[in-house]
Amino acid sequence: MSQWQISNTFYLLGFLLSLSLYWTTFRTQVPFYPSMPVVWQQVLALIPQHQPLRIIDIGSGLGDMSMFIAEKRPDCLVDGVELAPLPWLLSAVRSKFRGSKANFKFGDYCALDFANYDLVFAYLSPAAMTDLWHKAQTQMRPGALLVSYEFEINGVEPAQLISLGDNKKMLYVWKI
Ligand SMILES: C[S@@+](CC[C@H](N)C(=O)[O-])C[C@H]1O[C@@H](n2cnc3c(N)ncnc32)[C@H](O)[C@@H]1O
Repeated sequence: MSQWQISNTFYLLGFLLSLSLYWTTFRTQVPFYPSMPVVWQQVLALIPQHQPLRIIDIGSGLGDMSMFIAEKRPDCLVDGVELAPLPWLLSAVRSKFRGSKANFKFGDYCALDFANYDLVFAYLSPAAMTDLWHKAQTQMRPGALLVSYEFEINGVEPAQLISLGDNKKMLYVWKI
């Protein structure tokens, strides 16, 4: 690439873009990649009719999952928390422009108290799951749901395993 006479500024911008997108991925081992509407539909189906829940997407990325749930279930309180600055900023701005009721917090989900939520949704990575389970067990109320897309918790049987059609990835649901 050095033969292409590209300005140094281009590399700097590329670096800053990657930094704001992936931020502390080296520490969390959870990079950004979005889930798809087929996943959001299944999470929506887990929310009982006429029973408003407090829901959070931990590592909410661009915020689509939270905004989808907030739109379909305006009676629920829907939060997202995101550690990487660029996805968080985009989710907050998009939510404002769309008039979504979803709230997006900038920060680390590890610092939140899961007792404030009835349903915690996670699309993280295998590296995060053991600590997440300990946190869920310690903080979540009996009957609350921990939902993970794609990643299971080693040695912990889910209460429900939801297949997503052709997609070989599963939705794992644990009831505390
Ligand atoms: C695989 S993406 C999922 C995005 C979104 N939940 C979705 O379903 O489209 C995981 C996100 O979690 C964020 N993340 C990783 N560790 C985090 C932490 N400790 N606290 C908050 N966000 C975190 C990453 O920055 C990334 O945006």
